[in-house]
Amino acid sequence: MASHSLWSLSLGLLMFAAAALAAAPKKARELMWDVVLFGLGTGFQSKGSYLFGHFSMHLKLVGGDSAGTVTAFYLSSQNSEHDEIDFEFLGNRTGQPYILQTNVYTGGKGDKEQRIYLWFDPTKDFHTYSILWNLYQIVFFVDDIPIRAFKNSKDLGVKFPFNQPMKLYSSLWNADDWATRGGLEKTDWSKAPFVASYRGFHIDGCEASVNANICDTQGKRWWDQKQFQDLDKFQWRRLRWVRSKYTIYNYCTDQTRYPTPPPECKRDRDI
Ligand SMILES: *[C@@H]1O[C@H](CO)[C@@H](O)[C@H](O)[C@H]1NC(C)=O
Repeated sequence: MASHSLWSLSLGLLMFAAAALAAAPKKARELMWDVVLFGLGTGFQSKGSYLFGHFSMHLKLVGGDSAGTVTAFYLSSQNSEHDEIDFEFLGNRTGQPYILQTNVYTGGKGDKEQRIYLWFDPTKDFHTYSILWNLYQIVFFVDDIPIRAFKNSKDLGVKFPFNQPMKLYSSLWNADDWATRGGLEKTDWSKAPFVASYRGFHIDGCEASVNANICDTQGKRWWDQKQFQDLDKFQWRRLRWVRSKYTIYNYCTDQTRYPTPPPECKRDRDI
């Protein structure tokens, strides 16, 4: 236990350095980042909260033996029945593939995991991971290729995040009880510190106070426009490619968990 906290501290310090670098993005907007340490892990968050928009980050994951670690990039609201949109990168032993898990929480409830392998080694170079979130859909992109679409299926009785501003978070922590091969592979602390590098954050969102439930410019920004309300043909085709070649788990097709597939799965073209 003692050695765990020692190592997570040095991991924390390195993350602090990475966060400081990221605090000065070259792009137009100046962003402020808080660095927060929590539990056996570390991370940072955006100062502002946002209701809809486009959120992206350039990220290079922990290289070498990263088994047991999880690096995450996510949006989350602050309340008890919270909404959340997650990218989680599950580390692995040297040379073994990372898993990218995505999830969406609405009203405090998640249980919508999807898992894919990536078509490149995410520890070698920086890649762009982004989220488009508007009233019509949530889309997860890897280097501009859609890997998941979660359409607003309110009409089918499925909750959709629409009235709780979210902050952007990034973190790195130890999750060797579940992350790698379902928890069989433990974190090798002799390989610490574990470093994930961040650069070039970009947020183009409607900034709202934490307690707001609507944004001034709602419906008027670029991400609200027709062409962002659905994927186009080409994007659906790319998504099909990801699903057929790289998907290793999809809650939509997990019949043990969901004997009747959740209603949004059909609309999201997961089934
Ligand atoms: C790690 O590697 C093993 C063996 O190749 C694989 O089964 C597993 O899906 C990989 N990823 C994770 C996060 O467990």
